[in-house]
Amino acid sequence: MDKIRIKGGHPISGTIAISGAKNAALPLMAASLLAQGKTVLNLIPHLADIDSMILLFKDLGVDVERLNDQRLVIDCGHIRSYKADYDLVRKMRASILVLGPLVARFGQACVSLPGGCAIGARPVDLHIKGLQALGANIEIKDGYIYATTPKRLIGTKVALPLVSVGATENIMMAACLAEGTTVIENAAREPEIVDLACFLQKMGAEISGAGTSTLTIKGVPSLKPCQYQVMTDRIEAGTYMIAALITGGTLTLTNAPAQTLEALMTTLRQAGADISIHQHNLTIKPSKTLTGVDVMTEPYPGFPTDLQAQFMALMTVANGASMITETIFENRFMHVPELARMGANITIHGSSALVRGVNKLSGAPVMATDLRASVSLVLAGLVAKGETIVNRIYHLDRGYENLVEKLNRCGAVIDRIKN
Ligand code: EPZ
Repeated sequence: MDKIRIKGGHPISGTIAISGAKNAALPLMAASLLAQGKTVLNLIPHLADIDSMILLFKDLGVDVERLNDQRLVIDCGHIRSYKADYDLVRKMRASILVLGPLVARFGQACVSLPGGCAIGARPVDLHIKGLQALGANIEIKDGYIYATTPKRLIGTKVALPLVSVGATENIMMAACLAEGTTVIENAAREPEIVDLACFLQKMGAEISGAGTSTLTIKGVPSLKPCQYQVMTDRIEAGTYMIAALITGGTLTLTNAPAQTLEALMTTLRQAGADISIHQHNLTIKPSKTLTGVDVMTEPYPGFPTDLQAQFMALMTVANGASMITETIFENRFMHVPELARMGANITIHGSSALVRGVNKLSGAPVMATDLRASVSLVLAGLVAKGETIVNRIYHLDRGYENLVEKLNRCGAVIDRIKN
């Protein structure tokens, strides 16, 4: 398995172009199943998760072609299967997002239960209940979700008991082809939901309220394929902002979705960052000493859980203490013992971690466990004294396009060791 080797102590300065967003591209790909014909998605990043979704699409009989590196052409004209196999779904949980589109358009779908992952049990009960509310017959058998409907789904009101990005996306996509109107209450408000709604509207869907906690979808008989450019990745952008801050560099991010990063920017400014925005470019530099700031992860527009591990790496070398509380996933502190191996001072109390800043971290061999924990170890390695080896970096390949190259070009001493 490949590793990443980092020699710490080099400021991350320069310019990084932010890639298309993984967590927007995956639902957009799923939504393309709703229309007959060729959909063209632009700014699709080269990531392992996207490749997994392409493999799943080919299993379904969907033709997928990558053009000029960033464009994906998806032809749903000859779908011959409605089954998402366990081997694919367990590797990429977002495969569950094909459930709603398949049952809405074809009246049937057979999708493996995704199972858990490093950060939590990740149940999909809200996806299932939402589709049942729309009239789908659901049977769970041998680890698979069998969804069928003899006729069109029927619009209805779905009140989600907790905010779920994926459940909101699955129900919204299915509701587009239902008969009548669907209202989703307590819907997720993430920017990726707004991006998906914009794409669906371009396909002919009638959706209002995207970005608010009440989504209204008026079903239509069919949708048409279209061309669409995915939004850029706010989590990638936030990760590189922290890379600059933890190393004391000055970094400009181009094509950054700055308007979706308010919670992070507010927190980083409290910690001592100087952040300026010029149209789609965002520049961050250290303005004074880095101080500890408390953070609690929340659904959007709160502080993103997908930036919790990266922020914790930053706090390990801040002046003072920081209380970091994870409210979204039950096991998202897997990076803590690895950061501790590098000299970080972190105590976990239930869903909170108390981080006491230390003068320096020391490079060490560490183990990646999940996507965002992995990148927090890279961030710690960038500032640690000496050499850090991050093992199992296949986790990183799922969500960061050209991470080593982007950091190298900004002064990091980092390379990938092929094993
Ligand atoms: C999406 O996952 C993202 N993934 C995650 O990013 C992100 O952390 C998460 O939203 C929260 O923002 C993609 O978009 C592909 P949820 P999702 O449903 O949809 C519970 C990354 O690092 N829940 O909003 O799976 C669930 O257990 C990944 O890029 C149920 O109980 O997240 C969790 O505690 C990690 N039942 C909470 O809701 C359900 O049916 C929020 O999960 C669904 C979810």
